[in-house]
Amino acid sequence: MCGIIAYTGKQPVLPILLDGLKRLEYRGYDSTGISIVSRKKIKTVKAAGKLNMLESKINGPITGGCGIGHTRWATHGAPTDENAHPHTDPSNRFAIVHNGIIENVDALKKLLGKEAVYSSQTDSEVLAHLLALQPGDLLHAVREVLAMVVGTYGLAVIDQQHPDTIVVARNGSPLILGIGENEMLAASDMSALSRHTNQAVHLDDGEIAKLSPQGFEVIRMDSSVANKEAITLNNQNANYDRGGHPHYLYKEIIDQPDTVQQTLSGRLDDRFSTAHLGGLNLEARDLIGVKRITILGCGSALYAGMAGANMIESLARIPVTAEAAAEFRYRNPVIEQDTLYIVVSQSGETFDTLAALREVRRKGGFVLGIVNSVGSTIAREVDGGIYMHAGPEVSVASTKAYTSMLIAFALLALLLGRSRDVSPQQGSRLIADLKQLPDNIRSVLAMEPEIAKLADKYKKSQSAFFIGRTNGFPIALEGAQKLKEISYIHAEAYPASELKHGPLALVTGKTPCVVVLPNDDLLPKSISSMEEIKARGGPVIALTSAAQTDEDRIDALADDVIRVPDADVLTLSAVMGVALQLFAYHSALSLGRDVDQPRNLAKSVTVE
Ligand code: F6R
Repeated sequence: MCGIIAYTGKQPVLPILLDGLKRLEYRGYDSTGISIVSRKKIKTVKAAGKLNMLESKINGPITGGCGIGHTRWATHGAPTDENAHPHTDPSNRFAIVHNGIIENVDALKKLLGKEAVYSSQTDSEVLAHLLALQPGDLLHAVREVLAMVVGTYGLAVIDQQHPDTIVVARNGSPLILGIGENEMLAASDMSALSRHTNQAVHLDDGEIAKLSPQGFEVIRMDSSVANKEAITLNNQNANYDRGGHPHYLYKEIIDQPDTVQQTLSGRLDDRFSTAHLGGLNLEARDLIGVKRITILGCGSALYAGMAGANMIESLARIPVTAEAAAEFRYRNPVIEQDTLYIVVSQSGETFDTLAALREVRRKGGFVLGIVNSVGSTIAREVDGGIYMHAGPEVSVASTKAYTSMLIAFALLALLLGRSRDVSPQQGSRLIADLKQLPDNIRSVLAMEPEIAKLADKYKKSQSAFFIGRTNGFPIALEGAQKLKEISYIHAEAYPASELKHGPLALVTGKTPCVVVLPNDDLLPKSISSMEEIKARGGPVIALTSAAQTDEDRIDALADDVIRVPDADVLTLSAVMGVALQLFAYHSALSLGRDVDQPRNLAKSVTVE
């Protein structure tokens, strides 16, 4: 979603804001803008389009050490210069940047009267107009305005009458303070702060902070003081560097042998052939008391959850369902004491996943989080969890974080399995397979040239199908997701068994079908699905880990074969997933798409 950066201190603020916006651009990128208190006046520049459009509009330096910046992902109003943030009040005393949605914007506009003239179609501008009507210092003026607001916000405000003060507030949209030496920053995402400081404070919902070069103070909506402690962050700067690669997406794909290793690190217990997951906050007795598991997430996190459900169910024999978080939260779900709830999220800020977590906890359920972003809202609100340790993911399409979600589920499945029927011997075999995973991923990465050729061969396709059965189905879903979001080729996934119940009608010589063929009991049935497609003239790309005996049949039927190393239920999705990531990346590349920032999408979906 949108990104916010704010700085007050002794350094020239303009380059700090532009650098911050560069790092935040992946959150939303349809327009950008900055406001700086410069020579006692607020100077604002905004532009539709990406950051380079804003940079080209800034003629010469804008002096000043206090300012705010924003990169937008449009909700209210088209992505135009006028609708870009910051927004100012009519007298240009205040400038604001806002993430979130003001639900009672119509009521607030009524309050401001018919004579109010707005320069944008956004809901956010109303906040600047309301501020202009408040007496008192900036902190309390902001509090008064927010008391009138129904909706969500991450907000930053500057005031020309208080030239080195910034007020920020949070309700449902993340905001983090960065503490420097004689300088303070705030941002919606750690990525924009890490170059300047490793001391951060996470604001909680309902908190408002006043920042000046000397420090900060935080109050709640009832004006009471909130004492906040700073946390020290690991320096993750390196992850924001493309490392000489053409795209973040590519770097994040090829980094996976390492990121998988980081997820596994210190968590494999050879002695007892199990997993060691210290953050779960569950005793062995709690683990055997789990009767059901419900996994909740959105998009690729949901697909990782579906793969995780298969892993846990097959090893621990516990019934597991994976469900879209947004649907779950709105169907008044029944929450049970002996059900373990797991929310999965790379960013830890996805609104629907967070809302589902809150709904479960409100009803007394126990929730674990599988989260990448350390200190994120979801990470802070769960009862326990597993950090992925994949490092920040910059490209909008999830790759390394998706794979690390799979590994976190694999570890949990191993632990739950070993607390039930999985024998020490089987546990050791599963551990050996997990240890082999980084090398297996390396083998898939080595296939890049042939996968790139395939992508080029099929790049003109209007539509593609991805099919798989049981363990293969979530792989198909994620493969289709990757292809559609970055190449814009229409791609759908189905359970292979469903093909003849409808989708087969669309199979022609121009619709390639990726058939996911794990080396499992269902392989002969999946091979029959290939026959059905071939009989309709559809080109088949077989993605397989099949053993030698079945290779000939697959080779005879398929137009193209991607053969990955054999893997068991815990690592299969990761190994095959990397091959499909490369396929999507090269398809997008050969079509000239913006692979890191695909159209209409944003990295962290912090609105409903
Ligand atoms: C797809 C993708 C999205 C995210 C989804 C959830 O490549 O990135 O589908 O997986 O928006 O995001 P997180 O994991 O941050 O909750």
